[in-house]
Amino acid sequence: MPDLDTYLLLMRLLGMDAYKAVIEKRDKREFENLPIPEEILLKVLQATRMAGSGKNRQTGRIVVVAEQEGRNSVAESGDFGDWVKDAAVALVFAIHSDGGLRPDFDIGRMAQNAMIVANSEGLSSCPMTVYRQKELKAALSIPDEYDVPMVIGMGFPANSSKTSRSHPRIPLEDMIYRETWGSI
Ligand SMILES: Cc1cc2nc3c(=O)[nH]c(=O)nc-3n(C[C@H](O)[C@H](O)[C@H](O)COP(=O)(O)O)c2cc1C
Repeated sequence: MPDLDTYLLLMRLLGMDAYKAVIEKRDKREFENLPIPEEILLKVLQATRMAGSGKNRQTGRIVVVAEQEGRNSVAESGDFGDWVKDAAVALVFAIHSDGGLRPDFDIGRMAQNAMIVANSEGLSSCPMTVYRQKELKAALSIPDEYDVPMVIGMGFPANSSKTSRSHPRIPLEDMIYRETWGSI
């Protein structure tokens, strides 16, 4: 490895600005009526595949739902997901019920990878919680032994997006402690 300054300069020149893609990501729920080019969708999916999982068990699966009828079913499985009907795709995250001790962490890593890469490719996205898993599994032929707790809706952002930067975050000093709880 070159010295640290050279390394940091190289990283910057190579354009690997993951920080920007994370910091500027906001959950948006309004989309243009445009499909996602397959090349970009594959990058997003590749990013989910490379997420690490507990003991590398890799029991997370994704159903990519692009057709209107499927997206309607996905939207109806949530209580706060009507907007999924207008997304280009719904990524339905499924995890085997024997998926390890921390299955939500595993699919959380997959989902965040997807959303960050999507953001860096100019796509908007937002999570949706599934409230009626049984109905969703039936609609998409997902086997019984999988849980489908979360969906990501994704597409190109509508110009009229109202949801941008709408939710402030608590200050860093209110959430990060050093060495022991409460020390900043
Ligand atoms: C676990 C989880 C479940 C969520 N479920 C929903 C949902 O069902 N419907 C929805 O519209 N947004 C959902 N969201 C999105 C949150 O409302 C959003 O992340 C939060 O308000 C911050 O938004 P911002 O990044 O645009 O500031 C969910 C987010 C998380 C992390």
